[in-house]
Amino acid sequence: MEKLGTLRVENLNKKFQVENKEISVLENINLTVSPGEFVSIVGTSGCGKSTLLRLIVGLGDEYQGNILLDGKRINGPSVNRGIVFQDPRLLPWLTVEENVGFGLDGKKSIDRRKIIQEHINLVGLKGFEKVYPYKLSGGMAQRAAIARALVNRPEILLLDEPLGALDALTRMYMQEELEKIWKREGIANIMVTHDIEEAIYLGDKVIIISCRPGKIKRTIPVPLSRPRDRDSLDFIRIKEEVLKEFHLQAEQYFSYAI
Ligand SMILES: Nc1ncnc2c1ncn2[C@@H]1O[C@H](COP(=O)(O)OP(=O)(O)OP(=O)(O)O)[C@@H](O)[C@H]1O
Ligand SMILES: [Mg+2]
Repeated sequence: MEKLGTLRVENLNKKFQVENKEISVLENINLTVSPGEFVSIVGTSGCGKSTLLRLIVGLGDEYQGNILLDGKRINGPSVNRGIVFQDPRLLPWLTVEENVGFGLDGKKSIDRRKIIQEHINLVGLKGFEKVYPYKLSGGMAQRAAIARALVNRPEILLLDEPLGALDALTRMYMQEELEKIWKREGIANIMVTHDIEEAIYLGDKVIIISCRPGKIKRTIPVPLSRPRDRDSLDFIRIKEEVLKEFHLQAEQYFSYAI
C-alpha cells in the first residue's frame, strides 16, 4: 500500500503551441514523491522545470499522462498543494498578516488569527505582522510567501527557485530555515533551483532534467545525514556527480547547436 500523500507523475508529456508550431517541453516524466520527502530539481534554463511545478500545483490541465495525489488525478489548484515562486508576489496593499491569511480557507476568525500567527512565527516574522511588503527585505518577503503557502497545511509544498533573488549569505541562512520548516511541518517539498549546492544541501534526491525536450536524465540520491556539511568529502562527491551530468548535457547541447 502506498502511503497517504504520495505524488506520482506518470508518463507526463507537455507540449506548447508557439506560432503554429508545437514544441514538446516535457517528455515522458516519471516521478514519485513520498510524503515528507524533499526533492530537488535542477536543469538548465528553459528545460520545463516551472512548467512541471505549475502542472503539479494544478495550473493547466492540457497534458498527456497522469499526475496523481493519493491515486487521484490532480485537476485544478487545491489547498493541499502550496507554491512559492521566485519573487514573493505579496500584495503590496496588504500587511504581512493579511498577505499570509489571504488564501486561508474559510475558518472562524478566532481560528484564522491563531493559524496566521502560528505561521508568521514559524517563518520567523513575529513582530512584523502589521508591516507592509515594501518595508521587508528580500529574505523576509520570501519568508512571508512561504508562510502564505503553508497556511492551509498543504501535503506538498512546491518551491520554484524560492531563494534565487537573495545574496549568498542570506541564501545559505534561508536554506537552513527552509530545512527547519520542512522538518517541523513534515510535508513533502519539491524545490526547483539553479544552485547545485542548494539542491544537495536540501534534497533527499536531486533530479536532473535535460533540455529540449525536458526529460529526467538522472536521479541522484543524497544519503547524507542532516544538517549537511557542505565541505565534507561525501557532499563534494555528490556535487561532482551532478556537475558531471551538466557537463555532458552542455557538450550534447552545443554539439546540436553547431
Ligand atoms: N504558456 C506558454 N506558452 C508557450 N510556451 C511556453 C509557455 N510557458 C513556457 N513555455 C516554454 O516552455 C519552455 C519551458 O519553460 P519553463 O518556464 O518551464 O522553463 P524553466 O526550466 O522553468 O526555465 P528557467 O530555469 O529559466 O525558469 C520554454 O521554452 C518556454 O518558452
Ligand atoms: Mg522556471
